[in-house]
Amino acid sequence: MAGERKLCIFLFITLQFPLLQTAKILTICFIGGSHYLLLDEISRILHNNGHDVRMFLQFGEGMLPGYKLPPSPYPVSTYSLDEKYLKEYKEHFIENQKEFLVGRRGLQSILTFLGELSYQCNVTLHQSDILKFLKNEQFDIAIVDAFNPCTFLVSEKLGIPYIAFFPGIFGNALRVGIPTPLSYVPLFQSQLTDRMDFFGRLKNTVTFFVSHIIGKKIDSIFDNVIEEHFPAGSRPSIADLHLKAELWLYNVDFTIEFARPLLPHVQYIGGLLAKPAKPLSQELEDFITESGESGFIVVTLGSMLSSIPLVEFVKEMNAGLAKIPQKVIWRYQTSHWPEEVALAPNVKIVDWLPQNDLLGHPKVRLLVTHGGMNSLMEAVYHGVPVLGIPLFGDQYENMVRIKAKNMGTSIPPEQLKSENFAQTILEIIQNKSYKTSAMKLSAIRKSLPFPPDQQLLRWVEHIVQTGGGGHLHPYSYQQPWYQQCLLDVILFVTVCLTVTVYLIVTLFRVLIQKICSSGKQKQN
Ligand SMILES: *[C@@H]1O[C@H](CO)[C@@H](O)[C@H](O)[C@H]1NC(C)=O
Repeated sequence: MAGERKLCIFLFITLQFPLLQTAKILTICFIGGSHYLLLDEISRILHNNGHDVRMFLQFGEGMLPGYKLPPSPYPVSTYSLDEKYLKEYKEHFIENQKEFLVGRRGLQSILTFLGELSYQCNVTLHQSDILKFLKNEQFDIAIVDAFNPCTFLVSEKLGIPYIAFFPGIFGNALRVGIPTPLSYVPLFQSQLTDRMDFFGRLKNTVTFFVSHIIGKKIDSIFDNVIEEHFPAGSRPSIADLHLKAELWLYNVDFTIEFARPLLPHVQYIGGLLAKPAKPLSQELEDFITESGESGFIVVTLGSMLSSIPLVEFVKEMNAGLAKIPQKVIWRYQTSHWPEEVALAPNVKIVDWLPQNDLLGHPKVRLLVTHGGMNSLMEAVYHGVPVLGIPLFGDQYENMVRIKAKNMGTSIPPEQLKSENFAQTILEIIQNKSYKTSAMKLSAIRKSLPFPPDQQLLRWVEHIVQTGGGGHLHPYSYQQPWYQQCLLDVILFVTVCLTVTVYLIVTLFRVLIQKICSSGKQKQN
């Protein structure tokens, strides 16, 4: 009996997953904050499903201020940058935050940040002991944080095929060669929706050309590192490494993103961190109970912004929150709270908050957020309306989508004052249309054919089992650009037409001349 049962189970498993094997997977993460949270979740999912996962991680300390890293169930190879550099890096980041909070967000800050990543990449590629160890491990596949070009370079150096995971919306659709019709697909940095009027489409077209120039500029930041670590003749370009990824996974889905064409090796697996809520601590639960019918709101400006380096800004936010009847749970590093500001009586500040669990609480009314994709995907999952205070990166673009889907609205940080802050919070809570839209998106999210963790698992296994994503890559990847745009065909057709028209016109001219001259002869 027992033997038969075992056989049945064996057959069941082998028939269901005929090719399933344990894959050796390396996840690569060199940036903290939300990037780490996502790569950690990806590693856990693959590990929990029987794969042999290791993470290659930079830092350790200070990458998630206020958060205690839980012990990792999978092994991690890690190293830290030197203290002096980290201190400078942190100071620089705080200066940047100040700029963002007063509304200065030029291209320069992004380029400077990528400069830091390039510096760090050089340090990473000099970790010869770790690299040697990782190379000997012979991984089947790497999953890399595609925001940081260095992760591609490390995979290339190790000779491991890789899956690119992009932690946000399509900042790089053009670079991955995803068809992007400019008439209805708004480009990154355009702050447009899919419904563009004439000037919108004009702006989108201009953004297209500017993006190409910026892309080239960004790649060039890594030129020195590539030169130093790859021998002449086998130096990769960042642009080629984008195309070499076996698969592209994006941390977004069509609840937030506008419908658009994709490629077969491009998959949306947004919202890995959004899950059913777990019970809260007694302390938080007690605080929420005090709120009565008014409920509570959650305030957090993202994993990287644990406190606000401008006292004026803290004052305005705090004064605004004091004006609303709701209780407020605000993620703010308690040790950094400015002494001269008296915390509003309805506000509780905490070093770190279980955001997903709070958003799943029946009494939550609103999420005030910087507009990071993880936060938004959690809000979508639980159907919670959003007020955005976007600061940098993709946050403005994300909020454009939230507004277009009527799930909330945003206030640029430089315009935030206590009055409009309180008013906007109350408007979103009282105008039921926001909640209705949020619930609609939540229903869509929860009825997706495959939840994101299943998609991740199946796609990674598919790529490992088939030995790469070559069968999913379009031929356009090998075509020169003029062939892709059909410029040669257009040129040919234009020449043919011109010649034909010329011939016809010439023929008619000759005929008319003949007829005219024969007419004249008759008259004569
Ligand atoms: C990389 O680091 C090494 C050792 O610290 C240094 O000598 C070299 O100049 C750096 N190269 C680049 C491109 O930054």
